[in-house]
Amino acid sequence: MKGILLAGGSGTRLHPMTLAASKQLLPVYDKPMVYYPLSTLMLAGIKDIMLISTPDDLPQFRRLLGDGSRFGVRFEYAVQPSPDGIAQAFLIGRDWLAGEACALALGDNLIHADHLSTLLRAASARPVGATVFAYQVRDPERYGVVAFDANGKAVEVVEKPAAPTSNWAITGLYFYDHNVSDIARSIKPSARGELEITDLNRVYLEADTLHVEKLSRGCAWLDAGTPDSLLQAATFVQTIQSRTGMLVGCPEEVAFRMGFIDADRLRHHATHLGKTELGRVLMELAEGESA
Ligand code: DAU
Repeated sequence: MKGILLAGGSGTRLHPMTLAASKQLLPVYDKPMVYYPLSTLMLAGIKDIMLISTPDDLPQFRRLLGDGSRFGVRFEYAVQPSPDGIAQAFLIGRDWLAGEACALALGDNLIHADHLSTLLRAASARPVGATVFAYQVRDPERYGVVAFDANGKAVEVVEKPAAPTSNWAITGLYFYDHNVSDIARSIKPSARGELEITDLNRVYLEADTLHVEKLSRGCAWLDAGTPDSLLQAATFVQTIQSRTGMLVGCPEEVAFRMGFIDADRLRHHATHLGKTELGRVLMELAEGESA
């Protein structure tokens, strides 16, 4: 399975912060925003990752992430000339995907959960259909929303409904089988002119192959698209890290724990992070392993 990190868009809800910088490179506490969804893809065991961004911002992502060897993964970079919809990622990535199954992570989404790697492994192992993750929110009208029947079966997916019939929002993490690029080709732009990810999900739903995983209330799902949610995400990460001493959304750590890099490599990266707290925690992890 391959993975796409979608990190384009114009970030208008974060102006003026995003007038000269990509939203997904803004800090969420001690790391760039894109580190969080990158860590999620890596936690799913994905090592081939295409990062898609705007023509202006792509060079900055290259500078930050390089060829991926630092994390024991391989990065491919591609441009989305204009923000024509999330599902366009599968048209841009079509040749690179070469018919493989693919996970998609939105560059501004952060998921934190105890048993996340188990959920991710199950989603990536599902050979047919799609898996999306649903999370109960107070403001479902801001998101793609999934409604269930009395037996808990998903029956409807709607993008930003004016009158939501459920409070289950669909998060920005999606797993699709090898048909995804063909299905993306069949989708028409919505009234707002975008290839909607919800329309793609609806094709799977209608074929009875959409698996909806409900995230429990113990999980945290945050997007960081507005000043308030950006601050909330930063505070969340700061609270968990300082309370537990564990890192949230650190791809170097995930790479080490997943066996993508060894302790020597981790020690090297920790040294490069200098006197930061992040560097200290990573060094401790590397030393612990070689002790
Ligand atoms: O966060 C989850 C939600 O993400 C889902 O519940 C919705 O179904 C889905 O449409 C999306 O809603 P948003 O309103 O958050 O979409 P937004 O336009 O803000 O785009 C989400 C991210 O994807 C953002 O970081 C920018 C990036 N993006 C978006 C579009 C439309 C691109 O890189 N290219 C695009 O063409």
